[in-house]
Amino acid sequence: MKDVNILAIETSCDETSIAIIRNGVECVALTVLTQMDTHAEFGGVVPEIASRMHTENITMVLEETLNKAQMKVEDVDAIAVTYSPGLLGSLLVGVEFAKTLSLVYKKPLIAVNHMAGHIYANNLEEPMTFPLLALVVSGGHTDLILMKGDYEFEHIGGTLDDAIGECYDKVARVLDLKYPGGPNVEKMALLGEHSYDLPIPMNDESFNMSFSGLKSSIINLVHNEKQRGHEIRKEDLARSFQDTAVDQLVRKSELAIKKYNVKNMIIAGGVSANKFLRGEIQKLADKYDVKLSVPRMLYCTDNAAMIGAAAYPLYKSGKFATLTLNATSGDELY
Ligand code: KG4
Ligand code: ZN
Repeated sequence: MKDVNILAIETSCDETSIAIIRNGVECVALTVLTQMDTHAEFGGVVPEIASRMHTENITMVLEETLNKAQMKVEDVDAIAVTYSPGLLGSLLVGVEFAKTLSLVYKKPLIAVNHMAGHIYANNLEEPMTFPLLALVVSGGHTDLILMKGDYEFEHIGGTLDDAIGECYDKVARVLDLKYPGGPNVEKMALLGEHSYDLPIPMNDESFNMSFSGLKSSIINLVHNEKQRGHEIRKEDLARSFQDTAVDQLVRKSELAIKKYNVKNMIIAGGVSANKFLRGEIQKLADKYDVKLSVPRMLYCTDNAAMIGAAAYPLYKSGKFATLTLNATSGDELY
C-alpha cells in the first residue's frame, strides 16, 4: 500500500509546531517552537502575543520541517490542522495557514481536535489496541474516556470543576514558582515530604473528580500561615499536593479498570509528562495486568506530531474539511 504523508500544524496555545507523519504512526519530521520564555515574563500565556508570534514564525517552522524531512509540500497527501479547543487567535493562525496550503497545493484539508491529538500521540509509540481506557490530563481537561475503536470516545467520568493542569499552575503561583507551573511543582515536590494534611477529593465510588477544593485549601493554607508569620515548607506542600492530586487520578482509574475490565490503558495530555503520575499509573496497571502506553515526553506536551497521528484515521475514512473551516475555542471531542 502507498504511504500516506500528512503535514500537520498545531498552534492552539504557545507552541508553533509543524510535523510530517507517515501512515499515522511514524514521525518523519517535527519542529516545535515554544514561546514559553516570552510568556514566562508575564506569568502565563498572553493571547495577543501568542498569536502574533505564531504569525511571525509559522513559515520558518514549515521550512525547517520540510528540510528535516527532505520533502516539499507537493509530496504530502494532506494538510491537517488543530481547529479547536485552544486560544482563538492562536488557532486562527494555524487554520488560515493550513487553508492557504490546501488551496495553493491542492491538498485535502483535515480538521483535528487538539484533545484527539493528545490521545493519538500514543500511536506514535505503538498503535492503540481497543477497547482501552484513556486518562486525559491537561491544562483544560481531566477525563476518563473509554475507547472502543478509532474516534469512538465514551466519556465515563472526569473533573466537575478545574482541570488538574490548571490546579498545578495555580499551586505554582501560590508557591512563587515560574510559568509553566506544572513541571516546576513536580521538581519541587521531589525535594519534599508529604507532611501537610490536605482534603481528599471525591473519596467515593463515582467516576467524578474535583480539583477546585484542593486548590482552594492550598491557597487558604498559604494565606493563613503567612498571616501568622509562619514559613511555608514549599517542598513539603508541593509534595503533599502532588500526592493528593495524583492519588485521585489513580483511585478513579482503578474504579474504571475494575468496572470496564479493560486490558489496555493510555495517558494523554500535557500533565502526562509528569513522571510521578506516570509511575503511579504504571503501578496500577501492573496490579491489574493492564498494558499501559504513555507518549514520550516530546509528544506529551503540545506538538504537531500528535495532530498528524490523529488526522490519519480521518484521512482513511475520507473525513475532510472544506475551505470554510473556522477555528473555535471550545469544541468538545466527547
Ligand atoms: O496539554 P497541554 O500542553 O495544554 C493543554 O492542552 O491544556 O497541558 C498543559 C498543562 C499545563 O497546565 C502544565 O502546567 C501541565 O500541563 N504540565 C504538567 C507537567 N508538564 C506540563 N503538570 C504537571 N507536571 C508536569 N511535568
Ligand atoms: Zn495540549
